[in-house]
Amino acid sequence: MDGDRAKSAAARAARDLIEPQLAPDAVVGVGTGSTANLFIDALAEVRHKFDAAVSSSEASTERLRVHGIHVLDLNAAAAVAVYVDGADEVDPSRALIKGGGGALTREKIVAATAETFVCIVDDSKPVGRLGAFPLPVEVIPMARGLVARRLAGLGGQPVYRQGFVTDNGNVILDVHGLSIVDPDALEREIDHIPGVVTNGIFAAERPEVVLVGGPGGVERL
Ligand code: A5P
Repeated sequence: MDGDRAKSAAARAARDLIEPQLAPDAVVGVGTGSTANLFIDALAEVRHKFDAAVSSSEASTERLRVHGIHVLDLNAAAAVAVYVDGADEVDPSRALIKGGGGALTREKIVAATAETFVCIVDDSKPVGRLGAFPLPVEVIPMARGLVARRLAGLGGQPVYRQGFVTDNGNVILDVHGLSIVDPDALEREIDHIPGVVTNGIFAAERPEVVLVGGPGGVERL
């Protein structure tokens, strides 16, 4: 099974998993990236069963609207039943690295709002320990130098993502060379650096469910 078919299998499994929770007043949280795009396509097949979506990026908002799915501002949503999104790495404790697409801040906000977070990945994403994928950190532009020096002090090699501006008007530092032994502690430590908006470790906001698509079908972690 190639990567796209595995992602598609996980996306469709997530749609099937959440379908019983859909109701005329339900709001579904939607992530960002190639796997989330496949989930949006699958979700469109049941768009008559829920009220609206909240989105983690301008790109996902556009795709939802093309499918005729109403997109609400998060502040206008009374509750978000479930959030479905991909990830760049998943460890055995279900801690994640996210943000390869640069949407980590809005993703973390919607994940924190939702009652349940369902993560959908292909079988290249589970790892024994987080950190081979460079950790994205969203930074206020004027703090880029300070944050880079502090991240280097933590043992990483931060690389400025050239030519990329987040939906929030900020920049991304991708931190190479981290071996993340304690994701919860490192998430908190990086978030405390002045100028950091969000880092791509999702440990405080771990998904309740991880669906992994692969040659044998879809497995639930
Ligand atoms: C977007 O900012 C990311 O957090 C994505 O969820 C992550 O990069 C996974 O993307 P793919 O589904 O494209 O692999």
